[in-house]
Parts: sequence; C-alpha cells; structure tokens
Amino acid sequence: MRFRVTPIRRLHGEAEVPGDKSVSHRAALLGALAEGVSEVQGFLEAEDCLRTLAAVQALGAEVTRKAPGHYRIAGGGLRGLGEPADVIDCGNSGTLARLLPGVLAGQPFWTVLTGDASLRRRPMDRITAPLRAMGATIVGRAEGARLPLAIRGTAAPKAIEYATPVASAQIKSAVLLAGLGADGPVTVNEPAPSRDHSERMLRRFGARLTVAGTTVTLVPGPLRATSVVVPGDISSAAFLLVAGAIVPDARLTLHRVGVNPTRTGVLDVLRAMGATLTTDRIADEGEPTASLTVTSGPLRATDIAGAALIPRLIDEVPILAVLATVAPGVSVVRDARELRVKESDRIAAVARELGKMGAAIDERPDGMAITGGRRLRGAEVHSGGDHRMAMALAVAALVADTPTYIDDVACVNTSFPQFAETVNLLAGCPAITVEP
Ligand code: S3P
Repeated sequence: MRFRVTPIRRLHGEAEVPGDKSVSHRAALLGALAEGVSEVQGFLEAEDCLRTLAAVQALGAEVTRKAPGHYRIAGGGLRGLGEPADVIDCGNSGTLARLLPGVLAGQPFWTVLTGDASLRRRPMDRITAPLRAMGATIVGRAEGARLPLAIRGTAAPKAIEYATPVASAQIKSAVLLAGLGADGPVTVNEPAPSRDHSERMLRRFGARLTVAGTTVTLVPGPLRATSVVVPGDISSAAFLLVAGAIVPDARLTLHRVGVNPTRTGVLDVLRAMGATLTTDRIADEGEPTASLTVTSGPLRATDIAGAALIPRLIDEVPILAVLATVAPGVSVVRDARELRVKESDRIAAVARELGKMGAAIDERPDGMAITGGRRLRGAEVHSGGDHRMAMALAVAALVADTPTYIDDVACVNTSFPQFAETVNLLAGCPAITVEP
C-alpha cells in the first residue's frame, strides 16, 4: 500500500485526533489487574492498542466493546490472571512489549511474547534487567535482550530501588507494574522526567504512589476498577499541527488534545520556531486536555536538545524535522540517540527519506542538523514500516513542488488509522490518496 500525496495550498477547519496511544495501553493493562469492571472511553482503536486488549484477554481479563472506543474491562485483581494458551504477539508495539513483562513479573506462570520484525530488533534488556532483579525468570534471544522472550513471574516480586540509565516511561512503568505485588515499596529514579501517564493512572486505580523530582515510589497494594477517559493523542495531533504551520494558507483547530506537560515539547518547539499557536478549552479528566489552534506564518530555525526537552517530544522528532526543513536557518537536534531504537532508526530514516525530497540534513550520532528554507521536491520515498515516518513524509509532501509517493504505509494503522481522511477533510480535496 502506498500514499500518493499532492501538494496543497490551503488547510482549514476543526478536527479531533484519535485517543492517546500511551494512555490507552495503560487503561487496558490496569483494567485487567484491577478488581471489578473498568470503563474506558476514547480508547485508541489502532493496531498497537488492540494488541494490548488481545493480550489482556489471553491472560483472562474479560473485554467487552460497548461502542467505538468504549470498552468494559473486567479484571480479576493482581492474582486474577492465568497462563495464556499461546504466544502473545505484541505486533509493532514497544510499549506493550515493555509494559506487559512488568505485569507478568508478578504472575507465577509462563508467558511467551513476540512481535513483528521491527519489534524483534528493539532492545529489551532495559526491562529484563530490573525485572530479573525483582525475581522474574526471563529467557529469550540475545540472553533476554530481544523478543521472543519467555517470562515466568513470581507471586511476590522483590522490592527494588532502580536507577534507569535512560529516561524512559516504558522502563519506569514496567518496574512500577511489577511493584504492585512486591514484598515492599519499589522506587524508580530516572535521569530526566519521562511521560507520567502510568503514575497518574495508577493513582486513579487506587495505587499509593509518591513522586519527588525524578523519583517515583510505589507502595504495593491492590487496584480497584475505575473509569478512564482517554484524551486525544498529542503525538498524532503533531502531524496536523505541523501541516497547519507550513501549508501556505492554513488555520486548524484540534479539540480535546492531551496536553500533559510531560508530552508537550512539540508545542514548545512550534512556538520557538515562530508558529502561531493558541490554547483554549482547557479541561482535566485525569489527563489535561485543550483545543489547539495553529495558523501558518513565517518560521525560524531552533535547537531541539537537552535531557529535559527530548523525552517530552521523543516521538515527534520526525515531524519536527519536517518543520525544520521549511524554517530558514540551521536547526539542530541533539541528545536524541534513543531515536535510533524506535520503530525504525529515525535519525537515519529522516535524513535518508527527507533527503530524497531535497532536504539538507546532516546525520549525527545523537541527532541531526537541518538546513531549512529550501523548497522540497516530490519524490519516491519509503516509510521503512514506521508509522511516524509515513505520516511525517506525507506532511512534507503537502508542501513539495510535485506529487510524492510514499511506499509501505499500512503501518499508519499502528496509531492513526484516520490520518489520510482527516488531512483530506481539512484540505477540502483528496490530497492523500491510498493506492494498492
Ligand atoms: C511510551 C514511551 C516512549 C515513547 C513510546 C511510548 C510509553 O518510549 O517513545 O512511543 O507509552 O511509555 P520510551 O519509554 O522508550 O522513551
């Protein structure tokens, strides 16, 4: 499947983006571990999160779909899950592959996890190390550093204090999930703050948690069922916001976007590059949300760097690189080595594929330097099977001089199945067409 993207000059209107991927995964996992029936609304019905629902069902949770995005999850408590009859396939989802082992570390039975070719290349030792220290038995490829992994948990994981070498919400969450049934309080310290959706949702499910700076401590105890309203995903909104900043005549409003401060680095960078961005209708339903309006206008280069900022926009670097190709001057991305172990090596992929469209990008070990202000040209490019690359390239193609063909775009279903449809509605024409 490929996209044919025709350049446009106008993008106007209002839209909602689908549910937040990180929050949806956590709602399914905590719902399965809680006692009672949890209600989840706004759940992201895209491949990654549907894998998480299938995984909790395989472990014995009862999942009922009441309406689009509306699920009831009946959990049996921390000890209520059972050994799955088959291998659990995490598909393309790094979050499922890192968080589920945290759940399984507290379950005294064997589970085998695998994933697609991309996920089987991604590092898992970052979670196998702390979970083994908590008493889980984990065997797998590369001594447990690659999927498939077989995991046997223990009914009472050992309490640990763990200092993660990288700021990663996936590592932090795996240890906290394992800590729910531990024999004492579990502490995680990170080098910089990562997204805090797990902490917020654990509290909502009744967990006792204290946060001091970049250190979180969880006191073990049961979870009770609750209701969760999932906000729109700012990582999906980012593609539309950048389109709204670079298409010559554009004004877009996106409603109910999650604006958790640990995720809003993309808004800071848009503003630093001169984009006109306003925030309205701020609400809080466990996670803060807002309506975001962006208007196109002149842009300037900026630096995207630093241990405090990078985790707040880690998934948005491909689309921010597109923004930087349009902004006159040199924008530099630094301290973002983690991008090399995402769904694809996003530093190499951005430099290679946007380079085919005429962008001047100098690849560096931990980022890139982008000389912006040059008109992009239509080209034949490839997503590399990475959803965020496919969508970033499509947005770049909206401002190129001739049509662009983007190969291998079925991966967009991982996080934003309605992406092309939403862009076309705002463009008022079929800017992105899907070809077999
Ligand atoms: C996520 C954490 C981030 C992010 C990923 C989702 C999460 O990964 O890139 O898309 O939901 O916890 P890391 O924890 O590896 O930084």
